Amino acid sequence: MEIRISKTYEELSRRAAGSIAAVINAKPNAVLGLATGSSPLGIYRELVRLHKDEGLDFSQVTTFNLDEYVGLSAQHGRSYHHFMRENLFKHINVPPERTHIPSGTTNNYRAFCQWYEDHIRACGGIDVQLLGIGSDGHIAFNEPTSSLASRTRLKTLARQTIEDNARFFDKPEDVPVYAITMGVGTILEARQLVLVASGAGKADAVARMIEGPVTSMVTASALQLHPNADVFLDEAAAANLTMREYYNWIQEKKPGAPQS
Ligand code: F6R
Repeated sequence: MEIRISKTYEELSRRAAGSIAAVINAKPNAVLGLATGSSPLGIYRELVRLHKDEGLDFSQVTTFNLDEYVGLSAQHGRSYHHFMRENLFKHINVPPERTHIPSGTTNNYRAFCQWYEDHIRACGGIDVQLLGIGSDGHIAFNEPTSSLASRTRLKTLARQTIEDNARFFDKPEDVPVYAITMGVGTILEARQLVLVASGAGKADAVARMIEGPVTSMVTASALQLHPNADVFLDEAAAANLTMREYYNWIQEKKPGAPQS
């Protein structure tokens, strides 16, 4: 795992967006795994800026999102379909037919999840997967005790996640209880992982992900098993890391790394 600690959320977003842009520049038909929530917003703003100001081209890119709430249609204002349209897709030139988000309204979840897995494979697998982390240590909606080999499936959200996400809804009772989510096993198959976390509310989960044991109690700890995982943090999210100085040292001493 490579750990990069930035002074501000804007800086970490710029750096993380730079990693994703590098993948697209190297492989114009890259397959991107995308996330929703507060964490990736700065990255999406930066990717939109790179598209508008520097010509970053999404015309051959394919995308797969991590998850969607069960029961919310693609048009629902709190759905992840809506989130992705508003925060990224409508501002860039990715062809809509190449964007994929789990369906929250299919009448056959099992078949849909199998199709989603098969379609990721048919598109060549995910080149770079963007991730946030829940305050309970989840990635996507793989709540504590989710199998580290899990695949795309219907999942019951933890109370903590429902409370955390209530801020996006009018009232906590409106937060759906179920979601379709990629599994930890699905995520680990991506060629590169980029996880972003900011704010003190994530500090405990981040420390457990990086410095704790690999455990299904903190599904983000599965990143320790991935050979190419980059973690971008701000100071507050990095606050509980005991080896913090070492992570900064590694970045400073990297051949060719900027010395600032
Ligand atoms: C969203 C997702 C979740 C979030 C996590 C953090 O697609 O998969 O795992 O990344 O719940 O959410 P925020 O960024 O809102 O704190």
